[in-house]
Amino acid sequence: MNFLITGGAGFVGVNLIEHLNNAGENRITVLDNETLGKREHLEGLSASFVHGDIRDRDLLDKVLPGHDAIIHLAADTRVMDSIVDPSFNFDVNVNGTFQLMEAARQAGIERFVAASTGGAIIGEAEPPVHEDMVPRPLSPYGASKLTMEGYLSAFAGAYGMKSVALRFSNIYGPRSFHKGSVVAAFMRRALKNKPLIVYGDGTQTRDYLYVGDLVKGIVQAVDAGVSGVYQLGSGQGTNLNDLIRRIEAVMNLTLGELPVQYEDFREGEILHTWCMVDKARDAFGFNPGTSLDEGLARTWAWFQEQK
Ligand SMILES: NC(=O)c1ccc[n+]([C@@H]2O[C@H](COP(=O)([O-])OP(=O)(O)OC[C@H]3O[C@@H](n4cnc5c(N)ncnc54)[C@H](O)[C@@H]3O)[C@@H](O)[C@H]2O)c1
Repeated sequence: MNFLITGGAGFVGVNLIEHLNNAGENRITVLDNETLGKREHLEGLSASFVHGDIRDRDLLDKVLPGHDAIIHLAADTRVMDSIVDPSFNFDVNVNGTFQLMEAARQAGIERFVAASTGGAIIGEAEPPVHEDMVPRPLSPYGASKLTMEGYLSAFAGAYGMKSVALRFSNIYGPRSFHKGSVVAAFMRRALKNKPLIVYGDGTQTRDYLYVGDLVKGIVQAVDAGVSGVYQLGSGQGTNLNDLIRRIEAVMNLTLGELPVQYEDFREGEILHTWCMVDKARDAFGFNPGTSLDEGLARTWAWFQEQK
């Protein structure tokens, strides 16, 4: 299959391309504007690189034809940035995704797989969250991904596009050095001997999914040709204080040795979220098999190599 991967130079993209290459798949084009991911991140991997923006329709019309499937990862990904500048977030995540879908439709590309999000779409709700819950986003980022899901559904209904939204939970793993997400931020600060910053009292719960399990799930969804919305998470909730203890263990530190600075809880963030993954398991055999301790150990090993 001939893949076009938007945002392919980013954290999930590079891990996905490594996984596809290992499975013998080399027909991959990456489209990325290098705001966060850089083409150097693809060194040693087999993929052709196009520098460009998903909002540039002329470029899309040149690059898209000839591909069988689009895996759409490019986005303005940070919840807090979206609260500061909702217009920019809308432009990239809603307008950009719409341009991409329109260009895909006109290029006759039938498969469209898009990265969506779990907690940020559903909002504050009793976990475990699942695909049948009514979404009530608390941030512009969550709203932009929900709008994207609306267009995925509409393009399936109106034009027969085989579209799927994969709602990722909190992804962590190697190649995440530039990420603001919690595991990456903690490991970066630990490397610099700086205190970990926790917003709130650390009892908030998240669903941490190892990136290796995520990229397998993405490819399983493509291969199975499924449509609709699927959550990809670990299926387990872990609170932040527990996560810190586990990180201390993989760093061979004693409990409480990592300094933690507690600050005010941030508006727009969700207190507790973790998800059910039964739908993805039943539909395409998704199996988040890497334990949190094993995933953290692999991630820490990678961060240490970057020192
Ligand atoms: N990492 C997570 O925990 C997580 C959780 C839920 C959803 N997601 C979604 O998964 C996708 C991938 O996330 P990631 O963690 O790899 O993020 P990332 O920031 O590492 O990668 C995103 C990539 O998109 C590129 N990009 C941004 N704007 C662009 C534009 N206008 N045109 C072209 N390229 C552009 C960036 O340069 C970057 O390389 C995103 O859609 C994100 O919203 C990620």
